[in-house]
This record gives sequence, structure tokens and C-alpha cells, in this order.
Amino acid sequence: MSVASRPTAPKNPPTLTDGVVLLRLPEASDIPTIADGCQDPEVARWTNLPSPYTEQDARAWVDKVTNPVHWWDQPTWVIADTGNRWSGSVHLQPDGRGTATVRFLVAPWLRGRGIATRAVRLACRWGFSSLDLNVITWRALLGNEAARAVAQSAGFAVHEQPMRRGLVHRGELMDCWFADLIADDLQELGGGQVWTGPQLTRREREVLHAMAAGQSNRDIAITLGISENTVKNHVRSILEKLPARSRMEAVVKGVQEGITRLT
Ligand SMILES: CC(C)(COP(=O)(O)OP(=O)(O)OC[C@H]1O[C@@H](n2cnc3c(N)ncnc32)[C@H](O)[C@@H]1OP(=O)(O)O)[C@@H](O)C(=O)NCCC(=O)NCCS
Repeated sequence: MSVASRPTAPKNPPTLTDGVVLLRLPEASDIPTIADGCQDPEVARWTNLPSPYTEQDARAWVDKVTNPVHWWDQPTWVIADTGNRWSGSVHLQPDGRGTATVRFLVAPWLRGRGIATRAVRLACRWGFSSLDLNVITWRALLGNEAARAVAQSAGFAVHEQPMRRGLVHRGELMDCWFADLIADDLQELGGGQVWTGPQLTRREREVLHAMAAGQSNRDIAITLGISENTVKNHVRSILEKLPARSRMEAVVKGVQEGITRLT
């Protein structure tokens, strides 16, 4: 078995999707939604996130996790819905010796739709293939039934006996449930192909949204307050990155890959 190592030449953090959820880097525009979602009492109850949770906390988190050096030490994604809105987060914490821990949360308004399960599978599949992990572990406070069900659905072997004092919660060592996952567990589940999506910039995604809404280059230029030539350059770049041969094909691919939606 190999030992995990950080890639020598830092690459762009990957965007991952299974066609339903999209895992991407956080952006400044996510901050108000993150702050809203993390004020949820369940988040305060089961995680170590600040409570009460403010926009300042969200901003500090976005700044930290988008730092490329930090990202490869602790890969962290925003879970985005089909409208590219923040819907939760998933995080891998590798220990540098082939093991990583996974943590996750989903916005209260989107729970119970399998989003956490899909996001955890995507992140773990990527961790095995790209970080060369041997095992991914999960721990949660006793009683966190929802998180336990996610671990189980994502393919983890959840141990019957709790681990004593296995988790630090708000500065105190607590008993916890724990589970582990190896790459073969995901193979057994089948499907769920990880797709590393095109790295569209924020502006390119805005242009793609406008294309999906049927706007012409001229309309897009007016809406976004940029020149028509700049719009043309964005469109060319979008077609290259997806890749697509026409605007129509770009919109179809964008929808299929969860980067945009038809409005
Ligand atoms: C835990 C959490 C991420 C689950 O998100 P989610 O998107 O609702 O989870 P899913 O829809 O993928 O649910 C997966 C499974 O959990 C089950 N589940 C969801 N909520 C549940 C609950 N409150 N009690 C029991 N089971 C629950 C679902 O029925 C589903 O089971 P199935 O696969 O057998 O159908 C979400 O509740 C959350 O963010 N909680 C607060 C933060 C937290 O606890 N994070 C985990 C720390 S380790």
C-alpha cells in the first residue's frame, strides 16, 4: 500500500460532479448563504463551527480554504446545487500517512435529498485516486443519526461499538461513532463516476447562465456591463473548456454537468 503525499507541483483544485451535485471551490459570493446555513442549531450541536455563526466567520473560512497551499493540505469543497448556490461543504483532512478524515454538512433547506451522501462519495473517490489514500475515516458525536446514516449510505463500515473519547467537541473529548472506508467499498457501490469538470471562471459561468437563458452576445454585454467583444472572448473560452462546438452544445453540457440550468 502506498503512503499519501501532496502533489509536488500544486494543481488547480478540482471541480467534481456526479451529474447531480457539484463540488467546487468556495467563492466570496457564497458568504451570505454560508452564514445563513451555518446558523442552523443542528450545525452548532454536532460540529465545532463557531456558534453563533456570522458572515465574518464565513468570510474567514472562505479566505482560508481558497488558499491553494492550504487547499492541498486540507481539500475542501462547497457542495453546489444546480443553480450553483452553496448547499453545504465537504472536507478531507489527510494525516500524511495514507489516512484522511471526512467531514460534511448540508444546508438545512436541502437535507434529506441524498446530497450529503453524493458529496461524500465524490470527495472520497477523488481522495483515493488523487491523494493515493488507503483509508478514509469518519467520526461523529453519539446520537448524530443523520451523519451516521450518511456514512453508511456512502459505503463506510460503521462500527457497532462507540469509540471512547475519540472526538474533540468544543474543547472537550467526547465518545463518538466511527467508521472507515477503503476504495473497494466504493467499487462495490458501483456507478458514481467522478468527473473533473472544466474550470470555468465566475464570469464565464455568468456568461453561460445568460446563454442558457437564451440571451444574445449583445444582451449579455448589456446585462453584465461589458463589451460585446469581451463576451465573445468568454464564449470562445467556454466552448474550449467544456468542450463544445456550438452555444447550444455548451448550454446542454453545462446543464448536464450542473454548471448552469435552464431558466
Ligand atoms: C448530516 C447531514 C450532512 C445529512 O445531510 P443530508 O443531505 O440530509 O443527508 P442525505 O440526504 O444524504 O441522507 C443520507 C441518509 O441519512 C438519512 N437521514 C437524513 N437525516 C436523518 C436523520 N435526521 N435521522 C436519521 N437518518 C437521517 C436519510 O434518510 C438517508 O438514508 P438512506 O440513504 O437510507 O435513504 C445534515 O443533516 C447536516 O448537515 N447536519 C448538521 C451537521 C452535521 O451533523 N454534520 C456531520 C458531522 S460528522
